[in-house]
Amino acid sequence: MSNDQSGQRVGRRLIRARLGFASGLLLTLLLYLSGCADTTSFINTPSMLDARGAAADRILFLWWVMFGLGTVIFLGVMAYLLLAMFRSRREDESEDSRKRHGKRAIVWGGLVLPTVVIVFLFALTVGVLAALEAPPVPDTHVIEVVGRQWWWEVNYPALQFTTANEIHIPVGEPVQVKVTSEDVIHSFWVPQLNGKIDANPGRVNTIWLQADEPGTYFGQCAEFCGVQHAKMRFLVVAEEKNAYLAWIEQQQLPAPQPEDGPALEGQQVFLSSNCINCHTIRGTNATGNLGPDLTHLAGRLALGAGAIPNTRGNLGGWIADPHGVKPGNLMPPATELSGAELTALLAYLETLR
Ligand code: CUA
Repeated sequence: MSNDQSGQRVGRRLIRARLGFASGLLLTLLLYLSGCADTTSFINTPSMLDARGAAADRILFLWWVMFGLGTVIFLGVMAYLLLAMFRSRREDESEDSRKRHGKRAIVWGGLVLPTVVIVFLFALTVGVLAALEAPPVPDTHVIEVVGRQWWWEVNYPALQFTTANEIHIPVGEPVQVKVTSEDVIHSFWVPQLNGKIDANPGRVNTIWLQADEPGTYFGQCAEFCGVQHAKMRFLVVAEEKNAYLAWIEQQQLPAPQPEDGPALEGQQVFLSSNCINCHTIRGTNATGNLGPDLTHLAGRLALGAGAIPNTRGNLGGWIADPHGVKPGNLMPPATELSGAELTALLAYLETLR
């Protein structure tokens, strides 16, 4: 066997080994993608790829253009690389001609193509950003959202009520959301309806939401804000006009006053406990504003800013041991309550529809 032949064989083996290593690495990286599914949430957490509103549609369009262009360019570069690896040098090619080819490749591939692509993407992005500008809306469609560690205060200023962690909007109509923060920087994000917007203390940022179809849309704080950042969620409920107006009407009412029985006892427990230092129940003496407004707590879908479903059992567990569900949150456990008092308290809280 000649030296030439054995040299070629070694070269081929080396290339095969490299290709094997590269595909192994790619497969391993692909495996990591399986970690992207959120299995800790009881709420469905769809991605921005499942857009359900005008703004999200535009963002998704931009995403696909970038993804498509990126894929084409990546494949082109890889093809070029493979060509360089496998193509044997042509004997009849002069040194001058090789240099000329090399220079041409650098000018076209390294300067002209990237400039064209970047200018195109920049223009497209500016166009999409302009289209995402908030449309004018009536006062009733302005919602103020305040990020707090780790929940969302939701005010409807023109309609004069406050709620928490659940925003209702009329389907098919744009709603303006004015976002700020009471403590650290948070970020308000409903992936299916629009992009993210920072919630900064001392500053108001505006974004708008519009859902094409009725449904419950998942919202998430998208800026790391402390240990319970991941459980700083919220829901956007898009409803047909009548259901939406009925919800508004209900929210504007003060809490119903229990006549007798366990609910009345529970109200006494609530009003004589520490609860009133942090929570408001409109229509009672509880006017605290450190924690969520509880006036219509029982009508909400989730507890603890999307941490757990709003059921009687979960509410009892939350009151007795909020840190078991959400370690580090500001609510102290109600250790001073007896079992009977907790039962009465739950009976009262369940009337807050
Ligand atoms: Cu609030 Cu992360």
